[in-house]
Amino acid sequence: MLRTPLQARLCFTYRCNLRCPFCYERFARESGSRKELPLSSWLSLLEELRGLGVFSVALIGGEPLCHPYMKPLLEDLTDGPMRFGVYTNGTLLDDTWVELLQATHRCSHVTISLDGFEDYHDGIRGAGTFRRALAGIERLSSAGIPVKIAGVVSHDNYRAVPEFARFLESLPICEYKFSMRGDAAYGEDELCGELNLEEKVEFFLSMERIRNELKKIGSNSAPFPLLSQLRHPRHVTEIAPCCRDPLTTFGVLPDGSVPVCASYDDAPVAGWIGKQRVIDIWNGPVMNEFREQQRCGQELPWEKCGDCEHRQSCRKYCPKLEKVWLCRKEVADALAKVEHVVECS
Ligand SMILES: C[S@@+](CC[C@H](N)C(=O)[O-])C[C@H]1O[C@@H](n2cnc3c(N)ncnc32)[C@H](O)[C@@H]1O
Ligand code: SF4
Ligand code: SF4
Repeated sequence: MLRTPLQARLCFTYRCNLRCPFCYERFARESGSRKELPLSSWLSLLEELRGLGVFSVALIGGEPLCHPYMKPLLEDLTDGPMRFGVYTNGTLLDDTWVELLQATHRCSHVTISLDGFEDYHDGIRGAGTFRRALAGIERLSSAGIPVKIAGVVSHDNYRAVPEFARFLESLPICEYKFSMRGDAAYGEDELCGELNLEEKVEFFLSMERIRNELKKIGSNSAPFPLLSQLRHPRHVTEIAPCCRDPLTTFGVLPDGSVPVCASYDDAPVAGWIGKQRVIDIWNGPVMNEFREQQRCGQELPWEKCGDCEHRQSCRKYCPKLEKVWLCRKEVADALAKVEHVVECS
């Protein structure tokens, strides 16, 4: 029996109206060599996905709202069987866009990036971007379109994140989540803004302290999944822990390449839109080999791991995480040390 993806992530452009310094797409934009598929290929792809019963698609960039394909893509999705979400910096979300999104009757949510309070956010994304994004949130919410917020945690804002989370609670949104800034995972040679171990521990504990106040934070928001693994180490089993993405999500990059995982820069390419059918790529040898590697997991990274209680989590095969290897025991020990100091004081 042929297996099919449940959902798709269409990163249909590298273009963007902003130049956020940490953006993982800067390499693609700066190189200028990455080609983008024509509109007809994206429309054929949507047709193919519909035929396979895929029930939701994510429209991502770059910045989808600054691209001329966005309007025809929305028209194509209008009143169709698939729901869709949009990922945007929110700065271009005027009444016209909100009306277009509403008219599709299929927009499940819009995710807007907000990385911190106005000064910080504008410092990264440009003057006025915070207020424009807030105005976009208000417009969407008034139109009844659910809004989610995505924020990136880095060396420069982690101390303000708990207060910022409280602010997000007051907005007319349904959910927000934070991701840790990634540099090495996206091709940078050094860590520019990622947190070091001490900063991570400080951030994790500051969020844990206010967890009960945060009603709208997503359960997959940093730092909670990792904290939960550290607090409750998993039992060692035959099957390694794995991501759901390669089992559920078909990701396509602007040039038509289909990476085995859309979440890291140099993932192996499983196929090309326009050259192969979606179903053949999804069930092809590259995807299947990646899934098998995930199922078996990896050998523990270091000999000294021995019977460490965190070893089941560390068996997860993830080439992206490999680049930024995090010894959970080190983090757990650092957490315990800080908690011990607090208890004794
Ligand atoms: C590439 S953007 C595309 C959508 C839109 N332009 C936006 O800014 O929301 C998707 C998300 O990735 C986040 N992002 C970009 N570079 C990142 C990095 N190096 N580490 C973690 N998140 C990053 C952005 O903040 C944004 O929330
Ligand atoms: S707005 Fe989004 S795509 Fe554009 S530079 Fe910033 S993070 Fe990257
Ligand atoms: S937490 Fe560290 S010591 Fe434990 S298994 Fe993972 S890498 Fe090894």
